[in-house]
Amino acid sequence: MNLILMGLPGAGKGTQAERIIAEYNIPHISTGDMFRAAMANETALGLKAKSYMDNGDLVPDEVTNGIVKERLAESDTDKGFLLDGFPRTLDQAQALDAMMKDLGKEIDAVIEINVPEEILVDRLAGRYMCRDCGATYHKVFNPTKVEGTCDRCGGHDFYQREDDKPETVKNRLAVNVKSSEPILAYYKEKGLLQSIDGNREIDAVFADVKNIIE
Ligand code: AP5
Ligand code: MG
Ligand code: ZN
Repeated sequence: MNLILMGLPGAGKGTQAERIIAEYNIPHISTGDMFRAAMANETALGLKAKSYMDNGDLVPDEVTNGIVKERLAESDTDKGFLLDGFPRTLDQAQALDAMMKDLGKEIDAVIEINVPEEILVDRLAGRYMCRDCGATYHKVFNPTKVEGTCDRCGGHDFYQREDDKPETVKNRLAVNVKSSEPILAYYKEKGLLQSIDGNREIDAVFADVKNIIE
């Protein structure tokens, strides 16, 4: 099962991805997570990505396409994979098609999580993450069960993402609204696009995701 998860910043891609990979045991390939890991390790890739990410702009296609191509060549993707936040441009969608062709694979479904923009601003402003395991929470909508302790790993060290600052969020949303329109049309035309209402409880959204997958 080869899946793509789309949605604007804060739509809940990462939140749903955690549930999908637990249920279906496929690798989670998030270009945003890969760039953040590279930045934390101060690799050449991380240095390249940093200025774009800090502004809420897209990292250039050739860089992004390159890391996805390498990742999809790994053998754990043979049982399927979940792409989160890739592709984000038409160039990336076409590059992905070429990668699939080379690997003799196909995309089975593109799931778009739809949430109104004004709600996304609140989601991003209240998001916090566990530094130890990467789990994502929200101050109001999805807090840890025990205050200050990660549900998943028991860690106590939380942080907010650099690009969740209000100044950056505005540009990130605008950039992503603009870039997503052509790829949504692209996948709709191919008959792969499934849109779901993401402005509901996390479990209700996941129930729709499962319906699509099954
Ligand atoms: P990336 O890390 O992918 O960020 P994004 O697309 O901006 O999306 P987010 O991760 O912010 O949101 P999400 O949809 O995962 O929401 P989440 O589940 O966390 O990319 C970051 C940057 O990397 C880009 O800006 C770009 O620079 C670069 N990049 C990445 N991919 C690229 C590409 N392909 N090409 C070029 N550049 C690329 O949820 C958000 C919050 O809401 C959380 O607090 C969560 O708890 C809460 N929440 C989730 N679901 C619900 C719900 N149903 N109800 C209430 N609250 C909810
Ligand atoms: Mg995410
Ligand atoms: Zn944790």
